[in-house]
Amino acid sequence: MTILPKIYCACDVASLDQALTLTNKLKGLPIGIKLGLEFFMAEGLKGVGAIRDKHPDTSIFLDLKFHDIPNTVASALRVVSDLGVDYTNLHASGGLEMMQRALDAVNAAHKPAKLLAVTVLTALNDQSLNAVGQQTPVQDQVLRLAKLTQQAGLEGVVCSAHEINAIRSACGADFTLMTPGIRPVGSANDDQKRVMTPRDALSAGATHLVIGRPITQADHPRKAAEDILESITHG
Ligand code: C5P
Repeated sequence: MTILPKIYCACDVASLDQALTLTNKLKGLPIGIKLGLEFFMAEGLKGVGAIRDKHPDTSIFLDLKFHDIPNTVASALRVVSDLGVDYTNLHASGGLEMMQRALDAVNAAHKPAKLLAVTVLTALNDQSLNAVGQQTPVQDQVLRLAKLTQQAGLEGVVCSAHEINAIRSACGADFTLMTPGIRPVGSANDDQKRVMTPRDALSAGATHLVIGRPITQADHPRKAAEDILESITHG
């Protein structure tokens, strides 16, 4: 069984060249790459396939956050599934049936990706939920959607480090928590409001960390990544 890395580096770039350069710099380290909408809009399925073919040992998390009617999401995931990525995701707010149909689609693939759900985007607060007619406070909504995700049989959720404790208590030990908003000691917060160190997030119960700019914007990305791995192992 392949052991998937604990860290995914957010490769927020719009060209295959840039993505390949970063992947190459991290080659051989236990770090996967997260490709998002920006990359996908620019380079599409072929771009993802090119990275997979050039770096077959690098784990890929394809972060496209699907949200549509069940049939459409399932159909999209059937296409994505042929790529052989390790993780992909959707919005839990698309509902139970959408998640179940999506999971069925993914599981029918030759090499099924693990399916994660986004609960409430961290860019939203109580006020913005209220404005779209959602009266439930963010924290309650996060837990509600995490439990719905688990009921649908998905692997886990993408969550803020500050939601780890509550989701872990609600969903138990066997639930993947993929956590962005991570900053090693001494690195800039950028636009992340509430951050946690890699070691603290893992101690709190995160299973995987998404780390972007502290690696990608470092003078020496590979060294920055190695330092993060070292901080996890030795504190
Ligand atoms: O550079 P940085 O480490 O802040 O990158 C974090 C990555 O995780 C980005 O790709 C961002 O879009 C994503 N993300 C996030 N917060 C969420 C969900 C995803 O920062 N709640």
